[in-house]
Amino acid sequence: MNVTILDHQNSLLNKFIAEIRDENVQKDSMRFRRNIERIGEILAYELSKSLSYKSETITTPLGTKIVQSLQNEVVLCSILRAGLPLHNGLLNYFDNAENAFISAYRKHTSETDFEIVVEYSASPNLENKTLILVDPMLATGQSLVSVFEGLKKHGTPKEIHLVCVIGATDGIKYIEEHLPENTKLWIATVDQKLNSKGYIVPGLGDAGDLSYGQKL
Ligand code: URA
Repeated sequence: MNVTILDHQNSLLNKFIAEIRDENVQKDSMRFRRNIERIGEILAYELSKSLSYKSETITTPLGTKIVQSLQNEVVLCSILRAGLPLHNGLLNYFDNAENAFISAYRKHTSETDFEIVVEYSASPNLENKTLILVDPMLATGQSLVSVFEGLKKHGTPKEIHLVCVIGATDGIKYIEEHLPENTKLWIATVDQKLNSKGYIVPGLGDAGDLSYGQKL
């Protein structure tokens, strides 16, 4: 798997990452969602440099110009509900993409153990398309792998990209072992640890709750 970690280079991105981690800034949920969306826009731009392009001719009021446009159709797939602000960020740039949504949640079998339950799934055909799987928090990697397994019935994508904001090293290792070798991971930043409940430390907390409020 090819892994690109963006915070190794100093840029404005690192300010957005700092703000989503900061518990004082997190109190403003609109800013939290917008920062995740901004990070999605930056990840979309970086990812776009790795895609295939074809030449086409456009007409300006004064002449014609050969430009490069995306060769393959793009499908953005997000895991509900935490993936939605990141999905919006990617869709702002991949504005012609088709969209898929899948629900996945952790069903706890004890204080520390859980299984991933995938329920709702709405997806277009994925055959020969560029699939971009969007998940802000790559903790154990189990949700991403379960979602990928659930998507297989919709066709075989030509390329698979994963887009995440914060990842844990264990989660990255897990997806390296379970997703196709040609998968590319685009991630803003990586933390070393998971706590006993499978949360990334220091991470940022619960991305779904911070975006949309606590759930029962
Ligand atoms: N999901 C989150 O929202 N946060 C984590 O740290 C892990 C999974």
